[in-house]
Amino acid sequence: MKAVVKLGGALFKRDPDVNELRAMGKTLAGFVGEGNQLVAVAGGGQNARVYIDAARKLGADESTCDLLGIGVTRANADLLRLALGGVAFAKIPTLLSELNQYTSAGRAVVLGGLQPGQSTNAVAALSAEITRADFLVNATDVSGVYTADPKKDPKAKLLRSVSVEKLLSWALAGNVYAGKYELLDPLALKIMQRARIPTRFVSLEDPSNITSALRGREIGTLVSYS
Ligand code: UTP
Repeated sequence: MKAVVKLGGALFKRDPDVNELRAMGKTLAGFVGEGNQLVAVAGGGQNARVYIDAARKLGADESTCDLLGIGVTRANADLLRLALGGVAFAKIPTLLSELNQYTSAGRAVVLGGLQPGQSTNAVAALSAEITRADFLVNATDVSGVYTADPKKDPKAKLLRSVSVEKLLSWALAGNVYAGKYELLDPLALKIMQRARIPTRFVSLEDPSNITSALRGREIGTLVSYS
């Protein structure tokens, strides 16, 4: 199968946790070893936020802050590429148009951000569209999509499925600032909607959640399309 996996910033700590990265790399490399195609997208995490905050305090405009964020996501992509070992393509694509060429080499391809004004979730959706992926797994620091922010509201309930329209209405109510995307940015959702990309949100705490979702297990939250 052809898969795209978005690895949320929570995997990329301020001080990178090598054991966590190694465990993720091993699980994903196992999936590739079974003959599957994998594109993995690395989020920016805390380091992206720290750099963006510092740049903003130094007077940077939002596009410049985004470019700094992209730089950090690419550094994270390099760590993940190293954790994947020999199954990973040696270069991090910086253009969407490079992706099909790199995946055709039969290796897992890891990338970070592409251009300002979006998040790595948009990169993941575009990657899934252009590679005609069978499935997109979005792995974050929570178990899926909740009725409210589970870190702030103890009554928040995990949704087994959620429509792309609902996600869009939430995303459009949010702000579009560097380093400040909440769950998904509108562009990511628009791409998912137009390409009707089968997508599931899971927790990245246990790497096997990702491979379970790719194998069809009903964990986390499935996105539905009308
Ligand atoms: P993300 O917002 O995607 O990483 O990228 P994150 O905050 O770690 O998000 P999760 O946890 O994975 O959901 C970090 C920042 O890099 C810039 C944006 O400023 C973004 O907030 N970026 C990233 C871009 O401008 N363009 C891209 O294509 C990707």
